[in-house]
Amino acid sequence: MATTFHCSLRPSMCSGRRRPSSISISATRLSHKIISTAKPYFKELQQQFALRTGAVNSISKRLLGAFVESTFTLSHQPLRPTEGNFAPVKEIGEIQEIVDIAGEIPADFPEGVYIRNGSNPLFGALHSSKSIFGKSHDIWVEGEGMLHGLYFTKSSDNTWTISYTNRYVQSDTYRLEKELKKPCFIPSTDGDLPAVLIAAALNILMYGKAFKNISNTSVFEHAGRVFSAAENDNPHEIDLYSLGTLGSWNVDGEWKMPFTAHPKVIPGTGELVIFGFNLDRPFLTVGIVSADGKKLKRKVDIELDRCTYCHELGVTTTLIEFEKDSYARIGVMPHYGDASSIIWFYVQPFCTIHLVNCFEEDDEV
Ligand SMILES: [Fe+2]
Repeated sequence: MATTFHCSLRPSMCSGRRRPSSISISATRLSHKIISTAKPYFKELQQQFALRTGAVNSISKRLLGAFVESTFTLSHQPLRPTEGNFAPVKEIGEIQEIVDIAGEIPADFPEGVYIRNGSNPLFGALHSSKSIFGKSHDIWVEGEGMLHGLYFTKSSDNTWTISYTNRYVQSDTYRLEKELKKPCFIPSTDGDLPAVLIAAALNILMYGKAFKNISNTSVFEHAGRVFSAAENDNPHEIDLYSLGTLGSWNVDGEWKMPFTAHPKVIPGTGELVIFGFNLDRPFLTVGIVSADGKKLKRKVDIELDRCTYCHELGVTTTLIEFEKDSYARIGVMPHYGDASSIIWFYVQPFCTIHLVNCFEEDDEV
């Protein structure tokens, strides 16, 4: 099986976010600072709300819904001329044979399935909102995750059959909006500060979370199971043959925090290194999942003193490496080490999203 890893950032942290043209850059920075500062409180509100969901009666929800409907106008975001490649495609659902093939498949090409994942906004487009609080909008990574599968099978006479299908990853928020047949979440990632804050708060009150769970960043395999992932949610296990969603995976209830979209297998042991970063403590937690995928063998608070965007780490046969920005440093930790066993290497400030590779040679990493 082959997979490609489409890269995207967690919406709230995306460096490519669009700036509203109506406010100055310094105002935008201030607004982002305030939003970042307020987000832990969103989380707190979210947790409190989750505990009390049963107490919020349907009348309150209906009143909130009526307030949102009368106050916010949602509209489709038009694609810019350079954004045609991000336009959503239709969900096919059933596997279809491809009959029109240009070129030839190499004789030694392996049978199997090639799966990719990407942002494919439900209801035809990303959304913007307009209200008395101002404007807010989704950013391009916020489309629902759609899996695309190409199946290569070879008959005994060496004739290839190629089939294709695509399916949405059915996260909880995807199911919610699909069931209600309309976009429910008010865009809360970018826009005018009051609009963003109010949208996030209303989303939490209405649905228990500020943002949708969009499983659109990567596909990975572990212990014979295939998962679709995005770093703001648990991975979703998918059925290899239908691309149907089998369920959310939290390592048997042991991992209750964001889960990286780029976990790494430890060479030799087959264990899976995972991590999650938070806006409040613990800011960064690293975990090791057993090779059979059944057990979380290790969970370590890296004891950072602030939240930093961490999208990927590297793993060698014995070490785990991760990176920070601003006062940049690279940390190297034994697989089963902890915060006290990390060796930090201070480097010139930089920002890195992905690693190309890392390896050990003799006593060098
Ligand atoms: Fe990525």
